[in-house]
Amino acid sequence: MSILLVTSSPRGAASHSTRVATDLAQKLVAADPSNTLVVRDLVANPLPHIDPDYASGIYTPAEARTARQAEVVGVSDAVLDELFAADTVILATGFINFNISSTLKSWVDHVARSGKTFAYGEGGPKGLVSGKKVYIVLASGGIYSEGAAVQMDHAVPYLRSVLGFLGMTDVEVIRVEGVGMGADAVTAALAKATAKVDAIAAANTDQVVAAA
Ligand SMILES: Cc1cc2nc3c(=O)[nH]c(=O)nc-3n(C[C@H](O)[C@H](O)[C@H](O)COP(=O)(O)O)c2cc1C
Repeated sequence: MSILLVTSSPRGAASHSTRVATDLAQKLVAADPSNTLVVRDLVANPLPHIDPDYASGIYTPAEARTARQAEVVGVSDAVLDELFAADTVILATGFINFNISSTLKSWVDHVARSGKTFAYGEGGPKGLVSGKKVYIVLASGGIYSEGAAVQMDHAVPYLRSVLGFLGMTDVEVIRVEGVGMGADAVTAALAKATAKVDAIAAANTDQVVAAA
C-alpha cells in the first residue's frame, strides 16, 4: 500500500491535525512492512496559488506552453503523480475560519484538473480518481460534528464534495474537535481521535494477516 500524507496546519509543531494524521500514517505503515509513505508538507513547501499562466496553461498542449506555463503546470503534474500513485490519502487540516487551511485549498486547486482528475461527458461530470481510501483529519477549536455549529462546518462538506467530484468517495473523517475549550477538552479530543486511529490501524493489520 502506498500512503500519501498531506499536512497543512499553519500552527507548526502545535498542530493537532498534523500530529494525529502523522500517527495514523505511521501506524498504517507499520501494519505492513511493504507499505510506503510519501509526505507532502504544504506549510514547509506551500504550493503557489494558481494564476493566469496556470489557468491558461492547463488548457494548452504541453508542446505549446510558454516556459512559465510549463513551470506552473509542472507543479500540478507533480502533485497529481503523487495522488495517482497513492492507495491511501491522509489529508490533515486545521479548521481555519470555518474552512480548510488555505494551503490545502491550493493543493485542491492543483489536483482538480479537467481531463486528468475529472471529465465532462454526455452523462455529466465524471471523477477520474478511483480506488482510493481517503482519511480527513480535522482539528477545530469548536465542535462542528453535532449541535448548533454543524451548519458552520464548511470544511468536511467541502472536502467530501470536491473529493467525490474527482472520484474519491471512500472518505473517513477523524475529528480532533473542541480543542479551544480548555486543557481537558484537548485531552478528550486527542483520546477520541487516537482511539479512532488505533481502530483503523488494527483493521488494516487484520487485513494484512488475513491476506497472508
Ligand atoms: C487563524 C486561525 C483561525 C481559526 N479559525 C477557527 C474557526 O473558524 N473555528 C474554530 O472552531 N476554530 C478556529 N481556529 C482554531 C483551530 O481550528 C484549532 O487551533 C485547531 O487545533 C487548528 O488545527 P491544528 O491543531 O491542526 O493546527 C482557528 C485557528 C487559527 C490559528
